[in-house]
Amino acid sequence: MKLGVNLDHIGTIREVRKAKEPDPVQAALLAELGGADGITVHLRGDKRHIKERDVELLRKVVKTRLNLEMAATEQAAELALRFMPDQATLVPERREEVTTEGGLDVILQGEFIKPQISNLLSAGIEVSIFVDPDPDQVRACAKVGVRAIEINTGKYADGENPERELENIEKSAKLACKLGLRVLAGHGLNYRNVTPIVRVEEIEELNIGHSIISRAVYVGLERAVREMKELVGKYR
Ligand code: PXP
Repeated sequence: MKLGVNLDHIGTIREVRKAKEPDPVQAALLAELGGADGITVHLRGDKRHIKERDVELLRKVVKTRLNLEMAATEQAAELALRFMPDQATLVPERREEVTTEGGLDVILQGEFIKPQISNLLSAGIEVSIFVDPDPDQVRACAKVGVRAIEINTGKYADGENPERELENIEKSAKLACKLGLRVLAGHGLNYRNVTPIVRVEEIEELNIGHSIISRAVYVGLERAVREMKELVGKYR
C-alpha cells in the first residue's frame, strides 16, 4: 500500500510566525527520503498554511507524485491547471473549519463540479474526490467522471464507534472498486489506528499528515515517514 504524506502542517508552523521556515519544499525531500510515495498539500482559499509559492516549487522538486487538495471551484481548478499536479483531490472547504470536516457532497454538487473535473482530466491531471464512506456518495462519484476517490476515515479515527465505521469504509471501498474507481483513504490516521485500514484490500493508498508531522517533532521527519511507511506497507 502506498503512503502519501500531507505537508500542510509544515506550512502551519511556518505561518504562525509568518517566517521562512520550516519549508514544505525541504520537508518534501525528507519525506521522499523516508519512503513517501507521494506528497500532498492543500492550497486552501485563505492560503492559511500552503501558499502558491509552495505548490510552484513542489511541482519542480517532487520526484514521486504531487497531489493537490483543493476546493471544487472554478478558481481552484484554474490554479491546478497552472501548477499541473499529478493529481487533484476535490474537498469541501469552509473558512471557519480547523481542518476538512467531511467528504464532499457529490449527490448535491455533482452537476456543479463536473466542468472542473472534465477540465482537469483533459489537462492530464488525475482527479480524486474526498468522500464519506456512504454508498450513495460513492455511486455519485462514479457518475461525475472521476476514476478515484479518497474515503474519509475521520469518523473512524474519532474513535466513537470504530468497528461500525470500519465496516462502512470496507463496504464503500468494495463498492468503489466494483464501479471501477481507484480507492484511497485518509484523515485522522495515526500510528495506532492505521493497521485495520491497511488491511482493507481495496484501498491502495493512504494520505496522512498531522500524526506524521507531530511525530517528526520528536524523531525527525525522515524517520517519522519511514515508521509510518513500515506500518502502511506491512501487508502489501
Ligand atoms: N485527506 C484529506 C482529504 C484531508 O483534507 C486531510 C487533511 O488535510 C488528510 C487526508 C490528512 O489528514 P490528517 O492530517 O488528519 O492525517
